[in-house]
Amino acid sequence: MRIFGVLCLVLLVCWNVRSCSARTALPKLETTRKFFIFGDSYADTGNTQNTTAFRFPYGITFPGKPSGRFSDGFVQTDVIASRVLHVASPPAYATLLANTSTSISSGMNYAVGGSGVTYAFGLPTLQTQVQWFSQMVKAGAFTPADLKKAVFLVSVNGNDYGAYNGTLENYYLLVPEVVDLIDLGMRELYSLGARNFMVSSLAPLDCLPSASRPSGFKACGKNSTIESVLSSHNFLLGRKLVKFIKHQKGSNVVYLQQTKAIRHIQKNLPEFNLTEAFKPCCNGLCAEVDAGGSPLYELCQNPGLHMFWDNVHPSQAGWNAVVDLYQHGFTRFSPSLNAWIDGLCK
Ligand SMILES: *[C@@H]1O[C@H](CO)[C@@H](O)[C@H](O)[C@H]1NC(C)=O
Ligand SMILES: *[C@@H]1O[C@H](CO)[C@@H](O)[C@H](O)[C@H]1NC(C)=O
Ligand SMILES: *[C@@H]1O[C@H](CO)[C@@H](O)[C@H](O)[C@H]1NC(C)=O
Ligand SMILES: *[C@@H]1O[C@H](CO)[C@@H](O)[C@H](O)[C@H]1NC(C)=O
Ligand SMILES: *[C@@H]1O[C@H](CO)[C@@H](O)[C@H](O)[C@H]1NC(C)=O
Repeated sequence: MRIFGVLCLVLLVCWNVRSCSARTALPKLETTRKFFIFGDSYADTGNTQNTTAFRFPYGITFPGKPSGRFSDGFVQTDVIASRVLHVASPPAYATLLANTSTSISSGMNYAVGGSGVTYAFGLPTLQTQVQWFSQMVKAGAFTPADLKKAVFLVSVNGNDYGAYNGTLENYYLLVPEVVDLIDLGMRELYSLGARNFMVSSLAPLDCLPSASRPSGFKACGKNSTIESVLSSHNFLLGRKLVKFIKHQKGSNVVYLQQTKAIRHIQKNLPEFNLTEAFKPCCNGLCAEVDAGGSPLYELCQNPGLHMFWDNVHPSQAGWNAVVDLYQHGFTRFSPSLNAWIDGLCK
């Protein structure tokens, strides 16, 4: 099994080198790698309107004021853009709608905080986000060469499960439906010319501050339903991606092991210069105030020490730690995010 794996890797690398060099032989075809982002608040950089992400104290670390990011600063998108892809974090689609002069040279962020792939609070689903992208592709905003070289992040973190309001027995049936719809969105992107996909596993739903609150932020929550939904989603998505890789010729997929990465950080805080695994920096109803204007939350001294910024969202420091892990491991179908990027056509 092991030898077989190594052989495949060697063949794959050789194949890549050959197919890439054929194209790099053509002069002046080099463009920067574009980055396209789909999903929810773990990836959104400003597509929600009138949400807490546009209110103090969101954005206090970066850019120093609220910017539509569900964090004190960078979210995963910004960290991947700057540290892994070395491109500017692409503008939010809403920014382009508001100002058609917005540069799209680094790509575009279509992710919408709170959204999912099913109903999920009625927000624009992955399918809708893919349609926005499709309209732009069909209008000629991006060339086929751009798309082939571009990296597509698909980050769906559990709003479908959070918004579910049916019976507990049917809750489990939601898992294959969510996984199928992620796959459908990816296949649509593929048919539009996308080839390189970073897909993340779920947020650690049982170890978010919201789940850890009953323990006084000392431990993960204990709910066997949540735990089994989480593990079956991650397992089924992995299996679906194996099929995707097999059938979508020329696709390059890396599965970001987000659940594992965040758990690892929570168990090894000092390695990441963090001190708080569960307690969010913005503790309470972050950004909400009472009728008299008094905050309904408490703000910590140093968000840089907390894994989480609010009840469900990592802090900038948390995202830095997560992406750092991906760069060296915590991935499937490639040994690390860095190795995956190096294997793509330049
Ligand atoms: C914005 O949100 C506030 C509080 O949730 C609500 O009262 C207000 O009507 C919203 N405004 C718009 C334009 O949606
Ligand atoms: C629109 O975007 C362009 C390019 O970034 C910028 O120069 C211009 O000031 C923006 N216009 C408005 C009204 O914000
Ligand atoms: C419950 O979920 C369904 C979609 O599954 C949605 O249409 C409905 O509005 C939701 N009801 C409430 C009260 O949120
Ligand atoms: C566990 O989570 C499910 C789904 O959110 C919920 O319906 C159920 O009440 C929870 N169980 C316990 C014991 O809290
Ligand atoms: C933690 O802090 C130390 C001292 O400032 C620094 O050398 C190290 O690189 C930091 N580690 C991480 C993972 O940020």
